[in-house]
Amino acid sequence: MASKLLFTRLQTLTRPSLKVLSQFPQFILPKISPEIHTRQYSDLPQPPSVDAVAAPSVVSSSNVKSSLNENELRKFSAIAETWWDADGPFKPLHVMNPTRLAFIRSTLCRHFGKDPNCTRPFEGLKFVDVGCGGGILSEPLARMGATVTGVDAVEKNIKIARLHADLDSLTSSIDYRCTTAEKLVEEQMQYDAVISLEVIEHVAEPAEFCKSLSALTSSGGATIISTINRSMRAYATAIVVAEYVLHWLPRGTHQWSSFLTPEELVLILQRASISVQEMAGFVYDPLTGHWSLSDDISVNFIAFGTKNSE
Ligand SMILES: C[S@@+](CC[C@H](N)C(=O)[O-])C[C@H]1O[C@@H](n2cnc3c(N)ncnc32)[C@H](O)[C@@H]1O
Repeated sequence: MASKLLFTRLQTLTRPSLKVLSQFPQFILPKISPEIHTRQYSDLPQPPSVDAVAAPSVVSSSNVKSSLNENELRKFSAIAETWWDADGPFKPLHVMNPTRLAFIRSTLCRHFGKDPNCTRPFEGLKFVDVGCGGGILSEPLARMGATVTGVDAVEKNIKIARLHADLDSLTSSIDYRCTTAEKLVEEQMQYDAVISLEVIEHVAEPAEFCKSLSALTSSGGATIISTINRSMRAYATAIVVAEYVLHWLPRGTHQWSSFLTPEELVLILQRASISVQEMAGFVYDPLTGHWSLSDDISVNFIAFGTKNSE
């Protein structure tokens, strides 16, 4: 419920600005979006990027505006073997997983009229996990009954995901593919739920990426995105502390200027015909080492949206 209250607050924050913007045609959304793309938000020093590694084997782009950012993909290719090492570079995702799954379970069960307390609430629903990495999220979604397609631009990730999913009959049905959201759109694929966690901050064109996610969402379907807020707190915690002090993530994993604020995410999704209905923050308790859902969206946050009817 905290997330609903929070979303109401967020709507009141974004609505007046939209109203004001509409009075000044030079400031309407189409003009805002390129600024989001260029990401010139700050003069703050950026941490050094990770050492250059050989170009990863990735899906090639077509004439559609590509979401691929080769620099970002190189970082993930370099650590692909560590996806299932619960104490490795992806430890934060492993630790956050139960919390983000709680949000996904509750919002999607409510949306699709399913019982969140049954073992396989997503039976009969088709999900795509865009930027699935090694399958940390795809696997529990499949165990909850969804028919899951997992896609990632890095071939090594898909190979690891396939190997791991094949270890269990409940996950071996996952359809893993080395491809992108825009390629799936070209193939006219559609899903009941399109989920993309911790990916948008690594893509080349966030607004175009959201349009692809929307095109993949079937009418009456849902889209879920999680990312990191472009706030000073996120700079201090998600970059300085996580990468430089605690070494949870390799240095250079995140570029602060690539983060989106919740308001920006709501706006670019709105332009892509997705209405954000609910938002929540993830907060970390250093005493217990656990993450929980919160109305504090100042660092990590997740948004649930529904596709507007045409
Ligand atoms: C931080 S990881 C998140 C993995 C997974 N979504 C999770 O949360 O467990 C980001 C993933 O997005 C993938 N990725 C980055 N850009 C992509 C793109 N344009 N299309 C598809 N996958 C992409 C990377 O290869 C990487 O596996």
